[in-house]
Amino acid sequence: MLFIADLCAFYGEFQALFGVNITVKQGEVTSIVGPNGAGKSTLLRAVSGLVRTEGRIEFEGQNLRKIPAHRIVDLGLAHVPEGRGLFPYLTVRENLELGSHVPRARPFRAKNMEWVYHLFPRLLERERQLAHTLSGGEQQMVAIGRGLMSRPKLLILDEPSIGLAPKMVSVLFNVIEEIRREGVTVLLVEQNVHRALMASESAYVIENGAMVLSGSGSELLQSPQLQEAFLGLAQDEMR
Ligand SMILES: Nc1ncnc2c1ncn2[C@@H]1O[C@H](COP(=O)(O)OP(=O)(O)O)[C@@H](O)[C@H]1O
Ligand SMILES: [Mg+2]
Repeated sequence: MLFIADLCAFYGEFQALFGVNITVKQGEVTSIVGPNGAGKSTLLRAVSGLVRTEGRIEFEGQNLRKIPAHRIVDLGLAHVPEGRGLFPYLTVRENLELGSHVPRARPFRAKNMEWVYHLFPRLLERERQLAHTLSGGEQQMVAIGRGLMSRPKLLILDEPSIGLAPKMVSVLFNVIEEIRREGVTVLLVEQNVHRALMASESAYVIENGAMVLSGSGSELLQSPQLQEAFLGLAQDEMR
């Protein structure tokens, strides 16, 4: 579904990615893990057309590098950025509605809203509440829900579990599994390495802008090289 080859990315003169290769298969959860500053968010921004790139990025056979960022969502990609990016003084419902403006999703707004409220019943209880009054976990639900309102083929999540209480992290990973079962392909960036690999068919480890390891989630979970790649991380960050 998504094919990335020899991808380099730049912020001005600074090069953040060095020849990254990644394949995301339809219907799967693919995760990207790696230490802080490795280039994970940059990789997602490259897919969404938000940084300068070289190399190949193809979505369902189309060259994404030729498509302007604001049109990429029309193709069926939804990117839930790090830090959530909600409108703090709009309600939960209004934030969700903003996700359904793309032409492919507009006719299904009511149905998608129902789906989001089914996945996150708590958001239905709070639909008239302003986004900034929600807990961190609830805000993350709104951010994911807004992504789903565009009825994406590929949902891209950047560190969705960051800052969440352990119980909310479990809720989140259950929802990711449910989203996948509904046929949405998921590309997940996580610092919760253990949970991410458990939830993924395929996974990639990047470090200093380059890919150092790839395999199935279960392969990587067993891999001594993975432990090595995360030597700098505390053991509880792996769990
Ligand atoms: N807007 C930016 N301008 C310049 N450099 C950036 C910018 N965003 C990220 N970087 C740099 O690019 C590298 C990769 O960052 P990032 O993709 O955010 O890492 P990660 O998401 O893996 O923590 C880091 O060295 C970071 O400092
Ligand atoms: Mg990041």
